Amino acid sequence: MILITGGTGYIGSHTAIALSNAGSKAVILDNFSNSNFTVLSRISRICGAQQIFVKGDVRDAARLTSIFDQFPITAVIHFAGLKSVGESVQQPLEYYDNNVLGTAKVLETMRRANVKTFIFSSSATVYGNPRNVPIKENYPLSATNPYGRSKLIVENILTDFYQSSPDWNIAVLRYFNPVGAHESGLIGEDPKGVPNNLLPYISQVAIGLRSKLTIFGSDYPTIDGTGVRDYIHVMDLAEGHVAALNYFNKKQGFITANLGTGHGYSVLEMVKAFEAASSRKIPYEFAERRRGDVAECWSDPTFAREILGWKASRKIEKMCTDSWHWQLQNLKGFK
Ligand code: NAD
Ligand code: UFG
Repeated sequence: MILITGGTGYIGSHTAIALSNAGSKAVILDNFSNSNFTVLSRISRICGAQQIFVKGDVRDAARLTSIFDQFPITAVIHFAGLKSVGESVQQPLEYYDNNVLGTAKVLETMRRANVKTFIFSSSATVYGNPRNVPIKENYPLSATNPYGRSKLIVENILTDFYQSSPDWNIAVLRYFNPVGAHESGLIGEDPKGVPNNLLPYISQVAIGLRSKLTIFGSDYPTIDGTGVRDYIHVMDLAEGHVAALNYFNKKQGFITANLGTGHGYSVLEMVKAFEAASSRKIPYEFAERRRGDVAECWSDPTFAREILGWKASRKIEKMCTDSWHWQLQNLKGFK
């Protein structure tokens, strides 16, 4: 049985489905700090089976321990954490507490329970301002904000911990830009307030919740002057976690892998793709560059393909169609 921390969040909920599709059973733990309980019934509808859920915080050692006592957990996929770059600048202590100490607590509880397989949600943000694209796993790492630093610190903790416990299996998965939704339209990304990320913003413009998109920067050295990112369908990303678990069924060790498609799309290309998927016009205006943004960021996903046998297969059209489908069916998200 797999413990999914943060399993009612955006990526965790899609991973619960990917695990169920692969025939695995899971226990979902979440404190609902950034998710809604409705997600659980939606996952159950998609999977055709009731989800096992525990409400709680990963920093609550007693609650965590009780899960390992109650269920035959063999591995943990650790999504729980805070993820807003801007908020992390305002509230760094909350980010270090949740993301760093929370992860340490999970590891400590796993050690006591003798569960030794751990998959960690890292981010392309650990590459800082990449000098070259596509980005390989051995490129230099840096952080420009507390959120990114919390991911880097955890990566370092995991490296140190593995030195002391080489019989563990640890996968650090560095996600590029997850977008899209499950094709049922029952679950998807449900940002609180004004979306920070591009695709949720575009889709709220398409549905009429916002009047226009503001494009941050038109003078980057890219194909059309707008920022380029490696957008990956969230179900592909979810399946990457299943591939990592399967890898550890055959081999042991510590791996770090990019989960991306290996293709970059500009903001204007995304706008065009979304217009095609939704048959709606996306009005936009250009503004100054957003502080901290890089011009281009996309992955070299070769390592994940070679070692995990995993490759993202869903194209940009599918990413936009599924985002739109989710948005159309859930005007106000899960509320
Ligand atoms: P999300 O906010 O949708 O999901 C995180 C879930 O964790 C939420 O359901 C939240 O309620 C829960 N949670 C937070 N703190 C908790 C705690 N202390 N105890 C229990 N539950 C807690 O975010 P997401 O987009 O699904 O991201 C999942 C993970 O992937 C995060 O660690 C994030 O940093 C990482 N990541 C996300 C992206 C992205 O663009 N979405 C990119 C790279 C990495
Ligand atoms: N953008 C706009 N207008 C918007 C929102 C975004 O023009 O309203 C542009 C950005 O300037 C950037 C691109 O769209 O060029 C993508 O921006 P996102 O905010 O969607 O994604 P980022 O690549 O900036 O950051 C995301 C997550 C980070 C994570 C990073 C790498 O938000 O937490 O991917 O995984 F670290």
